[in-house]
Amino acid sequence: MSYSTLKTKQEGEIAILTISRPEALNALNSLFFKEFNEYLDSISNDKAIKALIITGDGKAFIAGADIAEMQNMNKKEASAFSKTGQNTFMRLENMNIPVIAAVNGYALGGGCELALACDFRISNNFAKFGLPEVSLGLIPGYGGTQRLARLAGLGNTLFLQLTGQMIDAQEALRMGIVQKVVDAAELINETMKIAQKIASQGPNAIQTLKKVVRKGYQSELNIGYDIESDEFSGLFESDGPEGMKAFLEKRKPNWK
Ligand code: CAA
Repeated sequence: MSYSTLKTKQEGEIAILTISRPEALNALNSLFFKEFNEYLDSISNDKAIKALIITGDGKAFIAGADIAEMQNMNKKEASAFSKTGQNTFMRLENMNIPVIAAVNGYALGGGCELALACDFRISNNFAKFGLPEVSLGLIPGYGGTQRLARLAGLGNTLFLQLTGQMIDAQEALRMGIVQKVVDAAELINETMKIAQKIASQGPNAIQTLKKVVRKGYQSELNIGYDIESDEFSGLFESDGPEGMKAFLEKRKPNWK
């Protein structure tokens, strides 16, 4: 399938999605959300894909929601625009496969919010992060007020969102927003290596792990432990036997 706002690629077991509206620094408009959801539909049931990397075309990852499109919205339209973003990013967060943001430049507003909905973020050394919505008289509308506080804490969230100021990759690393910073030329290679490492693990274990961590994070601790125990034991009827047998036989596992 071909898209106007996306470039798609698959390398082995890894899908790479490039958000591509470089003339508007990849700002997210309605067409993007339509195409992005179609793309997620197309890979959702593809068992050959073990991880998804999302990056941006040109000098930006994504410079936010499309301000030109938002400018003429009334309250009802703005509510629908926000709900579309929230629902899409919840869907992204809940994909079976791990999703990694490879942040290649500006990750602002809705772009930062998309990165926050990925499982983790690898950034190049000149990327910039920020939620500058207050400078437009707005607040983040795609989950950023909630997701960032859970990821980086209340103080960091209020600091970034009240000031609207941008931070560099090292500062984002310090706040726990980014998990690794690499040289710009190495961003996709390094992210691919991480995705391939994930793809080499027990596929059911990977899907289960993502589900358990995310579900447990939204539950009380005791419920989280129950979810963990149920899912841990479930793996003794899928990937576990082969993984443990391979270890003891000093060979690579043959995942089914
Ligand atoms: N929406 C629409 N167009 C955008 C855009 C956006 N978020 N960000 C950049 N562009 C466009 C610019 O208008 C410009 O277009 P023209 O060439 O037609 O003038 C083009 O992209 C290049 O941008 P700049 O000339 O501004 O590039 P720069 O290098 O001088 O500055 C920047 C880069 C600092 C990222 C600056 O573009 C910027 O501040 N962008 C807006 C960032 C922002 O406020 N994001 C939050 C959006 S609101 C939001 O996301 C709400 C939500 O949560 C739902």
